[in-house]
Amino acid sequence: MKREIIKTLDGSTTIHLSEWNESYHSKHGAIQEAKHVFIKNGLALFDNNPVSILEIGFGTGLNAFITFLESQNKKQKINYTGVEAYPVSAEELLAMNYVEELESLEFHNIFEKMHKSEWDKEIEICDLFSLTKRKQFFDEINDFEIFDLIYFDAFGYRVQPELWSTEIFQKMYNSLKPNGVLVTYAARGVVKRSMISVGFTVEKLAGPPGKREMFRAFKKT
Ligand SMILES: C[S@@+](CC[C@H](N)C(=O)[O-])C[C@H]1O[C@@H](n2cnc3c(N)ncnc32)[C@H](O)[C@@H]1O
Repeated sequence: MKREIIKTLDGSTTIHLSEWNESYHSKHGAIQEAKHVFIKNGLALFDNNPVSILEIGFGTGLNAFITFLESQNKKQKINYTGVEAYPVSAEELLAMNYVEELESLEFHNIFEKMHKSEWDKEIEICDLFSLTKRKQFFDEINDFEIFDLIYFDAFGYRVQPELWSTEIFQKMYNSLKPNGVLVTYAARGVVKRSMISVGFTVEKLAGPPGKREMFRAFKKT
């Protein structure tokens, strides 16, 4: 599938798949979306407490890098697992401008380290942040109650409806600890129904710039 690097409206880059007319991030702003959906409405719920995060779709590592920056700011211990079946190429990563756009040049080596680190092995990126990149398909996930927070960042329902199914959300529910939280940029009724049917309590929140709504789901026990 043809892949091209494009700039989103906040100046940050993303990868666009023209055949699907689908991007890795919102065209209204990749960084803006990541901060709003995953940090403000996800990570921030945990204050400064240690958090274990599962990311569905590691992709360019933008969410992981922004989460790393938060861990530095707040001195918060984070254990991050990113699942990805189709890693982004080294060439594409070089074209991503997240380090510059996030004004974090002092951490450019960290973004590189995240991408160069071995797959399927826990790597200590620094004393506060450990990363495990799992080269795995989402339907192969079989964890039980080990994560506090899930960043559900699969491609949209329009192009990959099978990833928004009850089967996948059941796996997400199982992998969360009691009272765990899942956040996603999506806001379709069909997605909400899948989440509710496996036991999640779902709320609708205001979306990032350019998107009206998004979902946050809780494993309430
Ligand atoms: C929306 S992008 C994720 C963007 C990413 N969070 C970031 O910050 O760059 C969705 C990701 O899911 C991956 N993916 C698609 N289908 C998958 C599957 N069945 N199993 C695992 N990964 C998959 C894609 O390769 C892509 O990297």
